[in-house]
Amino acid sequence: MNKLRELRIPEILNEAARAGPGGVPVTEDPASKADLELCRRWGFALRLEHRRAFLPFDEDSLLPAWIEQETPALAWDRLSVRGFLEIGSTNEEALKQAGSGAPGGTLICAETQTAGRGRKGRSWISPPGAGIYCTLVIRPSQPTDRWPLLAHAASVAVAEGLKDALLECGVERPPSPDLKWPNDVYLSGKKTAGILIETVSSQTPAAVVGIGINVRQGSIPADLRDQATCISAEAGRDIPRRRILVHCLHHFQVCYSLFERREHDELLRRWKGLSTMWDGVPVWIDDGSRRRAGITSGLTELGALRIRNEDGREETLLAADVTVRRA
Ligand code: BTN
Repeated sequence: MNKLRELRIPEILNEAARAGPGGVPVTEDPASKADLELCRRWGFALRLEHRRAFLPFDEDSLLPAWIEQETPALAWDRLSVRGFLEIGSTNEEALKQAGSGAPGGTLICAETQTAGRGRKGRSWISPPGAGIYCTLVIRPSQPTDRWPLLAHAASVAVAEGLKDALLECGVERPPSPDLKWPNDVYLSGKKTAGILIETVSSQTPAAVVGIGINVRQGSIPADLRDQATCISAEAGRDIPRRRILVHCLHHFQVCYSLFERREHDELLRRWKGLSTMWDGVPVWIDDGSRRRAGITSGLTELGALRIRNEDGREETLLAADVTVRRA
């Protein structure tokens, strides 16, 4: 199989981001010149003056240095961000890094993915600059039978992070996120963010939490515009990506800490408070084999969805596509 192209964020960007108004020295060697050219091509506003490089502060760039500075660590020793301009899939990279021992709190972040993946073998279209594409490595201490709750932790975190970012950006009457079981985030009835959790069976078990958020219109493929939306369209103004990401990472740490402290009821209470579809709502269920109708009737203690079928029988869903049935 061909190896997918992988482009790391040139280190000069992180150095200039950390240096602030003082800038950083640049050298004349061909490698530095190539890096500067790469930054220019990818639209970074790196300014060169008297052999120094300066990067004006902005709130959109997903530069590791700024993400780390703005995300205090609560659940790990420190957040360590590895940034890519282009990558196949941040989940794939995170699985690789977790397999070679990356600690919990390692975040892989990319401007664009060429093979972004979604649940159930679907793909996640990831055009440059239009969305947030990132994956976090975690090393939970809870037994693996509890790990399904990580999906609830991640979706609560994204919903709360979106709310905070919209508030911070001064959006009047921000739309309220609605969670679709198990972990899709909706705004105004359309999908806005998706989460893909995968596990690594190394000696010390790990999971990777992949998050895709549609921020700008360009993140939504034309044929999905009736089912998907983006944050900027819903907010009525552009919302900078890093503000969203930093709030989501903060809330993920809060939710992950609840998970690690076994406060699972509290985690589910928060999930339920953000979802309108988990109890008494007519839904279609598609588990890959057939589509059938049912009514939601609560969650189990592991966050599985209880369904009352049309013939009155109850079933418990661990994984499936569930969509609200409209009259
Ligand atoms: C879904 O199907 O709803 C889940 C989509 C998850 C997409 C994200 S984008 C970042 C991370 N890397 C991937 O390849 N997928 C996840």
